Amino acid sequence: MKVVHTIEELRDQLRGQLRVSFVPTMGNLHEGHLALMKTARHHGDPVVASIFVNRLQFGPNEDFDRYPRTLASDIAKLEADRNVYALFAPDEREMYPEPQSYRVQPPSELGDILEGEFRPGFFQGVCTVVLKLLSCVQPKVAVFGKKDYQQLMVVRAMCRQFQLPIEIIPQETVRAADGLALSSRNMYLTPDDRAEAPQLYAALQSVKTRLHEGERDADALGRFATDHLNARGWKVDYVAVRRQRDLKAPTADDMHGGEPLVVLSAAKLGATRLIDNLEL
Ligand code: PAJ
Repeated sequence: MKVVHTIEELRDQLRGQLRVSFVPTMGNLHEGHLALMKTARHHGDPVVASIFVNRLQFGPNEDFDRYPRTLASDIAKLEADRNVYALFAPDEREMYPEPQSYRVQPPSELGDILEGEFRPGFFQGVCTVVLKLLSCVQPKVAVFGKKDYQQLMVVRAMCRQFQLPIEIIPQETVRAADGLALSSRNMYLTPDDRAEAPQLYAALQSVKTRLHEGERDADALGRFATDHLNARGWKVDYVAVRRQRDLKAPTADDMHGGEPLVVLSAAKLGATRLIDNLEL
């Protein structure tokens, strides 16, 4: 695998390649990330991955400084897996040689709800860096995980509206055996919190069960899961049943089979904030 740190080296490696398949990450790679690389391999050639911890998408009280930076072991994992042809690992000066005063602002109805409500500026930071990375790599396809369901929707809508000739491919969420969605942030969990963490996915599954048993009140479904988790010591930001297509609140018709639905959630366990979702 070629490891390149500058845009110029990246372009040299990719000259003439028309079917590049791209996976952007912030590193500290786990099996979820590696599944994206494998999916990328099915959709194009060569596969390019990136590792860049993007300051723009972190709020002032978030974990930018302590976000795990594990480049050497990340490279070893990618080497062992043999799906990635080139890893682009720029430093901050390479990606932001001057203050990033031009930004991509997602529309409020998609960017300021759910995660966007609790992390102001998050999707602006994501869109801005993803647009920059796409312009560096110029891939034919890019793979994003459903673990970050709203991010996948926001990025897909951005590519469509800017008419970028890039197909966005979704990857199913990879989970631990007990159901917890893999995440770089799981390493912040204490042993007790790690044992409790699968309850988030369990709560989403019980929303699904209740819906299929006939509960047609979306707010009641969200409240039920929220109360359950809060009673176990979680601090729930949201549990929301939404339409898959646009993440809007479902109408009564939608709740009766009119639209594919998804339940999305974010909740804190101790100091760690976890997100997860489940298509219904
Ligand atoms: P990061 O959190 O490193 O995630 C990189 C990609 O891996 C995202 O598309 C994410 O959805 C996917 N992913 C993470 N955990 C997963 C899991 N358990 N199963 C399936 N896919 C999973 O998301 C980001 O980085 C950044 O916001 C980024 C897009 C790189 C922009 O900075």
